[in-house]
Amino acid sequence: MRWRYFIILQAIILLLAVGLVYKHQDKVTLVKTPPTELAQWYKPENKRQVWLHNMFKLRREMQAVEFYAQNKDAEHLQKWVVQLNQHYVKISDMVPVWQNKLSLETMSELIKASEENDFSSVLVQHKVMQKSCDSCHDDYQAITALTYRTPDFSNIQITHEISFVEHMDTLTRQVNQIKISAQDGNKPLALASLADLTDSMESLGGSCVDCHKKDRQAYPSEVMKKTLQSLQVSLESGTAKQQGRDLGTLAVLACARCHGTHRIAVGAKQKIVKDVGFSDLIKH
Ligand code: HEC
Ligand code: HEC
Ligand code: HEC
Repeated sequence: MRWRYFIILQAIILLLAVGLVYKHQDKVTLVKTPPTELAQWYKPENKRQVWLHNMFKLRREMQAVEFYAQNKDAEHLQKWVVQLNQHYVKISDMVPVWQNKLSLETMSELIKASEENDFSSVLVQHKVMQKSCDSCHDDYQAITALTYRTPDFSNIQITHEISFVEHMDTLTRQVNQIKISAQDGNKPLALASLADLTDSMESLGGSCVDCHKKDRQAYPSEVMKKTLQSLQVSLESGTAKQQGRDLGTLAVLACARCHGTHRIAVGAKQKIVKDVGFSDLIKH
């Protein structure tokens, strides 16, 4: 008897969950999240991007296998098939729960065909293999790159007291203060705010090197500096139109460009990658 109640209760909970998702179906996106074991194969847990480099090897080996099968070059073909197999199996060494995503049968068919110098079978199995690669990629590639390769600004400090995000808030206020004061004819405050913004941009520039160690990013760049000068001139003696144009150019160069690469990814990651627990679903 007890079991029957238990099953009925389970069914009710399931129906409620289905109902919740259905009711919010326009707002709910189901994303398969990659296993957390992946983290150890990425920076900062690992010194190198081990997972990604294994993938690059697989792609190269797939290309070589196809090339030598087409050219009926048995010796080179076999060499590359061995390596392909090695790095393919490494997927499940690194992330054991993904063992079931591997098509080990196809892999052994491919090995067999190459050992028998059956080039046309190799090419057939190669195609099947590529489909199996793609099927894991369809589910996990983009989300994995987003999770483990989006630069993390949460630990970046501008000074001891000021975090990166707090500094962003300061920058916006300064940009807007220039606009407000210029529009209302308060030239001294507009110019003082421009001087503040220039200082803040320089301190932001000091943070780039935290991540851009080899590919140094000059911030503010030469073009940004020219635009800052031009804005100063137009705030002193230009028309409202010139002021607006310079400020717009500055915002694109100094803010929007970087947001295009950095902020969009950070925002997407924060939305998608945070743990979506059952409590969130209920709250929703
Ligand atoms: C079990 C899942 C899985 C399987 C199977 C798999 N991959 Fe991947 N692959 C991934 C994930 C996850 C990424 C994303 C890694 C990243 O961008 O950091 C990826 C990324 C890649 C990339 C990098 C793409 C780019 O340019 O950024 C290549 C190339 C690649 N895989 C090749 C292959 C090949 C070839 C095979 C089959 C022989 C294969 N993969 C099988 C999960 C898989
Ligand atoms: C938290 C780490 C981090 C910080 C801080 C950071 N970046 Fe980046 N940035 C990256 C990563 C990672 C990439 C992607 C590089 C790649 O994939 O090759 C990137 C790419 C870029 C790119 C596009 C690629 C290029 O080299 O042209 C620009 C432009 C850029 N960053 C500018 C800046 C500027 C300017 C600053 C400082 C104001 C800055 N970044 C601070 C991590 C960071
Ligand atoms: C290094 C590249 C970079 C540059 C240059 C940059 N930003 Fe940002 N900005 C970011 C990133 C990354 C975030 C998201 C930070 C987060 O949410 O953790 C952000 C977030 C913001 C936010 C939202 C802050 C919040 O409270 O969520 C504002 C506002 C902002 N930036 C304004 C500006 C302005 C104005 C400029 C130009 C003067 C500028 N940013 C230049 C990378 C940059």
